[in-house]
This record gives sequence, structure tokens and C-alpha cells, in this order.
Amino acid sequence: MTEYDKDAVVPRYITRWLRENAPQSDALLSEMEKYAALNNIPIAQPETARFLSVITRLAKPKRMLEIGTAIGYSAIIAARSMDGDGKILTIEYDAPTAVTARRNIKLAGLSDRVEVVCADAKDYLSYIDEDECMDMIFLDGPKAHYVYMLDDCVRLLRRGGVLISDNVLYKGMTADDAHVARRKITIVGRLREYIAALTRHPELDTALLPLGDGVTISVKI
Ligand SMILES: C[S@@+](CC[C@H](N)C(=O)[O-])C[C@H]1O[C@@H](n2cnc3c(N)ncnc32)[C@H](O)[C@@H]1O
Repeated sequence: MTEYDKDAVVPRYITRWLRENAPQSDALLSEMEKYAALNNIPIAQPETARFLSVITRLAKPKRMLEIGTAIGYSAIIAARSMDGDGKILTIEYDAPTAVTARRNIKLAGLSDRVEVVCADAKDYLSYIDEDECMDMIFLDGPKAHYVYMLDDCVRLLRRGGVLISDNVLYKGMTADDAHVARRKITIVGRLREYIAALTRHPELDTALLPLGDGVTISVKI
């Protein structure tokens, strides 16, 4: 019988099949996936990680901003898909997690290209000058704050640049009131505001994708 999981955007049998047929992670990424699972650290789902890698190759960013580093998993994946002179600035609020990210990035041989800043992204973004124009932004930090970071993301993104936002469907809760757990009402409300702001933004062309936990991809026009 087909399994339907109310906490998953994509039915489990499809996710299982996609993962069986996707390229396998190398030793470092596999170790990071195990570490994240053991320590309850949220990292990009495999389908989202593949999407990020392919879009990075297409967009060819020289300068990328990531909000929400966790242990450096998505930063390593993106950096490997950039040209050799591409650089990533990634922001992580939690200090011990930022230390782990720097260690993993060093193990990947990417310390000269991926800078981990330990800060509250919402504050830090306002200090980044638009001269530091970003070709690509991966928004994967605190979900309830996406809507407050959008203006800075658009300000920092160059025209033609790509903004990817993860977890926008939030286990399906964003799309259906009946799914919303009581303690998630605020986050879900803010994610809905974020999606409305993205899709109506005059400087962005946006697609909403039921990929992983829900992903949006926007181009600055
Ligand atoms: C979903 S995880 C990031 C996963 C990572 N991008 C990956 O796929 O490997 C979100 C991260 O954002 C961090 N975070 C939460 N609030 C933050 C804030 N205000 N500023 C920066 N980082 C924050 C959390 O500590 C967490 O590590």
C-alpha cells in the first residue's frame, strides 16, 4: 500500500525512490549526514542539496551568501559546484555549531573559499554593504525571520542573481491550516507572509517548488 506521511511534502515512497536513484555522497558528506542525524541538526534534504548543487553550476556565482550554516553541509556542496575562484560567506548564530562547520570546511579543503561568520544573520545582513554584491543567496536560517531578511537579500543580490529559500512548505503546514501544530502557528504565519512578499515582489521572479521541505527559487529582475 502507498504510504502517505502528513509530515512530508513528498510521499515517502517517492522520496525513497529518488534517494535510491540519486548520486551518492562522498565519505565526508556521508559522515556529516550521520553526525547531523545523530545530533538532530537540520541540514538540507538530499533532493534540496542536489538542487542547490545544480543551480550553483548553472548560475556560476563568484560570490555567494548563505544564511544558516549549521555544520557546513550545504556550504561545502555549493562551494564544490562553484568555479575555483568562487567564494561563500555563510552566517551561523550558534557558536559551537560554527566551530564544527569551520572544521568540516577545513576537512573539505575549502577554508580559503568559505568564510563562516558567527552572528545573528538579521543584524549582520544590515552591515553588509551593497558593494559586496551577491550572485546567489541561500536562505536557510531561522524560518520565522525570512520575511524580515527579504529586503536585505534583495538589496544584496545583483540583478540576474538567484535567491533560494529552503523549508518554505514546512512539512506541509504552510499550505494547509489543518496541518499546523499549535506551537508552530507563528512560524507558519511568517512563512506565509514571506511567500506572499516573494511572489509579489516587483524585483523578483519566483517559482515555488514541492521539493524536499519546499523550496523557492527567485531571480532578481
Ligand atoms: C536548517 S539549518 C542550516 C542548514 C545548512 N544550510 C545545511 O543545509 O547544511 C539552520 C541554521 O540556522 C541557524 N540559525 C538560527 N537562527 C539564526 C540566526 N538568527 N542567524 C544565523 N543563523 C541562525 C541555526 O543555528 C541552524 O544551524
